[in-house]
Amino acid sequence: MNNKKFPEDFLWGGATAANQIEGATREAGKGWTTSDTSKFIEEPEKRMQQMLAPMTIQRVQEALEDAEGLYPKRNGIDFYHRYKEDIALLAEMGFKTFRFSISWARIFPSGDDEAPNKAGLQFYENVIDELRKYHIEPLITMSHYDFPLALSFKQNGWASRKTIDAFEKYAEVLFTRFKGKVKYWITFNEMNVIGMTGYLSGGILADKLAENQSNTQVNFQAAHHQMVAAAKATALLHKIDPEAKMGCMIVRFENYPETTNPTTILTALKSDQENFLFSDVLMKGRYPSFSKRLFDERGISLSITPEDEQLLADNTADFFSFSYYMSGIVAENEGDETAGNILASKANPYLKKSEWGWQIDPVGLRISLNKIYDRYQKPIFIVENGLGAKDTLTVDNKVNDDYRIDYLRAHIEQIAEALADGVDIIGYTPWGCIDLVSASGNEMSKRYGFIYVDLDDNGDGSLERYKKASFDWYQKVISSNGEVL
Ligand code: BG6
Repeated sequence: MNNKKFPEDFLWGGATAANQIEGATREAGKGWTTSDTSKFIEEPEKRMQQMLAPMTIQRVQEALEDAEGLYPKRNGIDFYHRYKEDIALLAEMGFKTFRFSISWARIFPSGDDEAPNKAGLQFYENVIDELRKYHIEPLITMSHYDFPLALSFKQNGWASRKTIDAFEKYAEVLFTRFKGKVKYWITFNEMNVIGMTGYLSGGILADKLAENQSNTQVNFQAAHHQMVAAAKATALLHKIDPEAKMGCMIVRFENYPETTNPTTILTALKSDQENFLFSDVLMKGRYPSFSKRLFDERGISLSITPEDEQLLADNTADFFSFSYYMSGIVAENEGDETAGNILASKANPYLKKSEWGWQIDPVGLRISLNKIYDRYQKPIFIVENGLGAKDTLTVDNKVNDDYRIDYLRAHIEQIAEALADGVDIIGYTPWGCIDLVSASGNEMSKRYGFIYVDLDDNGDGSLERYKKASFDWYQKVISSNGEVL
């Protein structure tokens, strides 16, 4: 039993993204996206690198023409055709909210077409209506690692200011169509990631850069364009649907200083400033004071107009959201490294790690929640958290995933502690509530879900859904509002 109380209207649920669940990538007029070029590669150690590496025109074209290779995100788990069955299972668990993303290229196949694709809008309306049938609140991400490739070829994605206009039109179409049906929106998934990799969410092709342009410079300028687009979308949402709320979303790296050496502590402080760089802009409406030095030291010079500054100042986000899987270390010396979400880290001797090397740190979630709330004083939505693990389906179609229950229980206990600390947390959506294709690995072996999907890394399987032990456990967590853990 947990004697710390969750608010009565706490939004328990789960999270997904279009490119990792939908499949049907060439159906109903959808255009190609950056996620369609993610190939499954055999060597595990090369997978994260593939996701982060700069992309070229030639490699994109080769991927789109490659008839032999395995591109799991093109097929997902077939949510496009099975959403009714899947939503019924989420409803059975008692979900109050479901986070999914809309694929921009399903609505505008070329990113900036004259008129939206009716079939795309209808699909998402069906999903939203199905959720509402069970009183599940949709939480929608507008861009989650699947940028329309046509806009990459045309104007190099978010490297171009013109992409702001295309996104604004996309936003207007969504908010007008789904007005009154969707209360929570997020513009960009993990928007601090574009600083590290331009292709994944920014659609930037390295060989389209001018000779004197560095990847870093262009990625940060692209991030600025995304922030202006987010501010414009926020303004539109508040005008079209005043009841709805807009969130900003980052991946949280909770990095501890390895020693008490003040220079290491300073490095940890700087790493945290970098974490917050983009969310400071979206939550506070201006670039933070430390940004000038950070940009100077990296040779970054941003083009920011007075109109941009005004837009950012006038249209801050209503809530903060983030993904949290593990913590890392800011080390003085090199040492044993372990893997992590996007960034690797030196191993922390106090922490266990997942099969993928991500360091499990529930207390780090409480620390993050306190830091974030101190900084912004706005509601916080934890929109990703979870354990990627290999599951075994028994002969009687069960999965005993006690390790996942242990991970989630420990994190929920720390959320309860943070609530008791006074942090305003409005909801919790564990990642991959139904098994999905891994973002970094393009594999099915790394499973996060309460629901097992019969599909393997080679794309073979019946696609049948089975309830894991964690399904029943999470159902009790929700029905007891976090008291029975
Ligand atoms: C987050 C992403 O960073 O991590 C998700 O927003 C992703 O898309 C999740 O799936 C877990 O990462 P992975 O590589 O285990 O799928």
